[in-house]
Amino acid sequence: MLIPAALSSFLPLSLLTPRLGDSSQSYNATCKHIARSISYASDVYYPGSLNFINGTQHWVPSSSQVSACSVEPGTVQDVSAIIRSGGHATTLGFSSTLGVIINLIRLNSLTYDPVSSTATLGTGLTWDQVYQKLEPYEVNVVGGRTIGIGIGGLVLGGGYSWLSNRHGLSIDTVTGFELVLPNGTVVDVTASSAPDLFFGLKGGYNNFGLVTKITMRTYKQGLVWGGLIDYTGDNINKANAALVNFSATNVLPDANCVLHIIFSEGIPRASLILFYNDPTPPAGLFSDFLGITSSSSSLSTRTFLNFIVGTSRDSLNPSHLRGTLSTVSVPDITVPVVNEYYSTPGVFSSAPSVAFSFEPFIGCSIIDTQNAAAFQYDTFGTPLLLFFAWPNATEDAAGFSAIKMATTAITQAVINDGQDLSDTVLYPNYALGDTPLESLYGANVPILKSLRFKYDPTGIFLNTGGFKFV
Ligand SMILES: *[C@@H]1O[C@H](CO)[C@@H](O)[C@H](O)[C@H]1NC(C)=O
Ligand SMILES: *[C@@H]1O[C@H](CO)[C@@H](O)[C@H](O)[C@H]1NC(C)=O
Ligand SMILES: *[C@@H]1O[C@H](CO)[C@@H](O)[C@H](O)[C@H]1NC(C)=O
Ligand SMILES: *[C@@H]1O[C@H](CO)[C@@H](O)[C@H](O)[C@H]1NC(C)=O
Ligand SMILES: *[C@@H]1O[C@H](CO)[C@@H](O)[C@H](O)[C@H]1NC(C)=O
Repeated sequence: MLIPAALSSFLPLSLLTPRLGDSSQSYNATCKHIARSISYASDVYYPGSLNFINGTQHWVPSSSQVSACSVEPGTVQDVSAIIRSGGHATTLGFSSTLGVIINLIRLNSLTYDPVSSTATLGTGLTWDQVYQKLEPYEVNVVGGRTIGIGIGGLVLGGGYSWLSNRHGLSIDTVTGFELVLPNGTVVDVTASSAPDLFFGLKGGYNNFGLVTKITMRTYKQGLVWGGLIDYTGDNINKANAALVNFSATNVLPDANCVLHIIFSEGIPRASLILFYNDPTPPAGLFSDFLGITSSSSSLSTRTFLNFIVGTSRDSLNPSHLRGTLSTVSVPDITVPVVNEYYSTPGVFSSAPSVAFSFEPFIGCSIIDTQNAAAFQYDTFGTPLLLFFAWPNATEDAAGFSAIKMATTAITQAVINDGQDLSDTVLYPNYALGDTPLESLYGANVPILKSLRFKYDPTGIFLNTGGFKFV
């Protein structure tokens, strides 16, 4: 019945299938119990208040539902009090329906320690807030690529970043978590203090408690070069060819790009983000892309924050469409794979928004930094992101069916291309909600299930959103 909004709002959205509360009176009693248990640093909000709306809103409305109340804890002690209230309620039989949303927005502290070169981030922060707060120190962390994304969900699900080609995923750079266990105990989780939880939290989401702070290594950050380039539909083939060549030839860990192929009501266009982690990219590096006629371009030397804000446009959902993400892991972005990618929207051609995003990460440099984690991605496949969106609930079934067909078609194209997917896991932050755990966590599934049982024997956190180790 507890759902940490900042962890789940922006990530595995499709998981949060609406479950309507049938015992709102009991939930109200829990809300009042929580209100009595917390300090003045925290508040409980009910439907109708602005804070409630903020706490229950999702990036896609198909993931939302009306809860009995939204709680904004201001301290880790109050998080503990709320979880104990919820746990108490669970033992009284209020299981498996959502009643209380925990909005982590007040846990927004950030401290930077230049001696250890780490930053400790409250999980109520979004990545753009993090980058803004780190800018004066001229350092950065391995975090999200889009404004508005909460830090908790991205890190706990892995965390691909513009800095990943050099430093790995977010989970590879975490040195500690502050975790409120399902029994309310607050623990500092590090590789030495609690190696099992440290392993589990790196990709295993909120199965073991609620993370309130994350400590990450920092890296020196100066000005970057990059921006957004738009291509009309007639140039998509050229953009795809440039992408395939870039993917095959790029060895520079400071360079990357994302190519979004977007169909709006069936009309195709492409939008490309180029990134180089230095004020000027090497001559010729992006010349294939730059040689294609574009309809607009915003390349410049700029701060990292300015780059993130300026390139987030196509990752947002301004019309608040319903929708879902899906993913395929691809060892090599090749011509037949790309061709399959942009020929699939026929299965859902009326949709207002069907998008495929190619992210040509360099596998080997990521793997070099990999350490034991729940999300063990050492058989590398770069995550391809699918996002299908539609306006009405009546289209939900068709939308989910279409994205599954596209996912299957692209997976088959990768296999037909001779690429081996047998040991490749899918990126949890992009995966469809009903993806089997084995496809995300491979051989780690039994370990993660027993870890979940050890720390949450009564299954309090099975009532939160996300992939669950049951
Ligand atoms: C729950 O509490 C809210 C806010 O106090 C109130 O509007 C609603 O009627 C209550 N629901 C029930 C079933 O008591
Ligand atoms: C609601 O969220 C917006 C955007 O994050 C924020 O600016 C505003 O202060 C929030 N309002 C309340 C009442 O929490
Ligand atoms: C592919 O990229 C490499 C490296 O940037 C470049 O030298 C080569 O000309 C490109 N090939 C094609 C066919 O564009
Ligand atoms: C679906 O959404 C569109 C666009 O908002 C609207 O015109 C249409 O009437 C809706 N259809 C249904 C069945 O609700
Ligand atoms: C809470 O759980 C942890 C881990 O299982 C355990 O070490 C601790 O004693 C428990 N605390 C309470 C108060 O039950």
